[in-house]
Parts: sequence; C-alpha cells; structure tokens
Amino acid sequence: MIQVFNYIADLQTYLKAKRDSGLSVGLVPTMGALHEGHLSLIRRAKKENDIVVASVFVNPVQFNNRADLEKYPRTPEKDVKLLESVGCDAVFMPSVQEMYPTEVTDRYDFGIIERVMEGACRPGHFNGVAIVVRKLFEIVEPDRAYFGEKDFQQQAIIRKLVHDYNLKLEIVPCDIVREKDGLAMSSRNMRLNDEERAIAPMIYKVLQEVVANVETMSPAEMKALALKKYSDIKQFDVEYVEIADEANLQSVTDWKDCEHARIFVALQLGPVRLIDNLRIF
Ligand code: PAJ
Repeated sequence: MIQVFNYIADLQTYLKAKRDSGLSVGLVPTMGALHEGHLSLIRRAKKENDIVVASVFVNPVQFNNRADLEKYPRTPEKDVKLLESVGCDAVFMPSVQEMYPTEVTDRYDFGIIERVMEGACRPGHFNGVAIVVRKLFEIVEPDRAYFGEKDFQQQAIIRKLVHDYNLKLEIVPCDIVREKDGLAMSSRNMRLNDEERAIAPMIYKVLQEVVANVETMSPAEMKALALKKYSDIKQFDVEYVEIADEANLQSVTDWKDCEHARIFVALQLGPVRLIDNLRIF
C-alpha cells in the first residue's frame, strides 16, 4: 500500500525509520496530473533506491501567470492510484499552507542560465522552482532526485542549486517520454481540443526535420528553418526557438564551439503553452 502524507512532520517520521534501517531514498518531485512521463521517473527511481517518494504539489510560487495556475489540471485521487500501480512507496501531497506558512521571500539568481528561454519568458519561474525543490530536498533528504529532460533548463537550474549549496544528493536526468505520435507527454496536453491535439505532434516533427540538416546548415540557418516551419502552421504561436550549448544554455553560433547542442522550442497552441527539445549532437 502506498502511504499518503499531507504533513511534513509525518513524512519525516516515516522516512527516519526507513533511513535508520539503512534504506536509500529516491525523490520524484511533480505537480501531479500524472502521465507516463512522470511514471517513467518513478520506475527509474524504484530501480535505483529502496524507497521512492513522489511529491504532488502545484507550486503557486513558480507560476508567473495566475490563470495558468488556476487552470493547471489537478487529479489527486487518480495520481495516488497511478503512483501505487508503479510501486511508489510514499506520496507527499502538502497544502500551500503546509509548504508556505509564511510569506515566501527567498530570491535566487542563477546567472546566465536563467536569463534565456523559459527564464526570459517566465520571470520569477525558476526562482519559484528553486524554492520548492530546495524545500523538498530539505524535507525528504533523498539520496537521489529524478528530473525529466523535457524541462532541460529546469534541470540545469537544479544542478546549479545543488552545486552552489553543496546539497548532498545526486540529480538523475531522465529521457523525454513521448506519445506514439511524438508529442512530448505533458499534464497540459489534456487541455488541447481534438483539432489542437491533432496538430501538436508537429512540434516534435519539425524539431526532427530541422535537426537532420546538421551537416549542411549553420545554427542560424537551422533556427530560421524551424521558425519558418512553425510559422507555416497557423495554430502555432511561437515564443522562441533556440539552439543552445547543453553545458551553459547559451546560443550556439558555430557548431565547433560546443560538445553537445540542443534545439529548444516554446509555443502557444490554443489555450496551452507547450515546450519541447531535442539533442542535435
Ligand atoms: P511537472 O511538470 O509535474 O514535472 C515533474 C517531473 O516530470 C519533471 O522532472 C519533468 O521534467 C518530468 N516530466 C514531465 N513530462 C515528462 C516527459 N514527457 N518525459 C519525461 N519526464 C517528464 O517540473 C515540474 O513538475 C515542477 O517544476 C517541479 C520540479 C515539480 C517543481 O514544482
């Protein structure tokens, strides 16, 4: 049976007993409305730890848009069932009051990696992510924590947080899980209507098509081609396309300058903002 905890103190009592018996702990932070992408993180954590804790918390301080926070899907009962079905040992589902009993005042500045892409388009977003993730790390004290490459920039921010504050845990990156038609799984996909859902796989298809030109195109040409292909699809309202160095997330001007390059996209489709990315090399 999965154990459900709403309070920090109860979760910590449970975890102390596990740790005193020498068991390792893996943490999978989520905002719920779980899908196969989240479950892949739980399965991976299960293989590498004795005990797996998932958190389900729609973190208000990382939303820079009130409507987005209010419309964020919430399916707590279903989430608990799904977590149980993949062998998750415990789920932490705190209230906002439990996580933030007093005004949130922490301010992080992650420098250049947060000035681009999601950081530039969603002011305050990564500050809110860092606040909640650090709190979760301090509450759970996991040996390992699992994050998906769907949110590649988020993962870079969390790595910097762990490094800068000497936090004692390992960050484990996990591959993007996609629908059969290529659409990256996201809790937000459930808000697409049939027409939007039918066009959504083009987000990934365009990434694949443009990346195939790596031998013949410069980064600028590849970016221009992606922008052109996206702008040909009238339902897409592109926020950015970036080709960045995986090491520092800065734009790549010459392929020779980086070891691993990745293409990133954010766009609005109907009522939702979707992101995706793909390694170029
Ligand atoms: P959420 O969007 O619920 O995602 C939770 C975790 O699942 C993140 O690490 C995310 O990268 C991963 N994930 C989501 N979709 C995925 C997919 N299709 N394939 C693989 N992994 C996927 O990211 C957050 O929540 C929040 O910002 C959080 C870290 C929980 C802090 O509030």
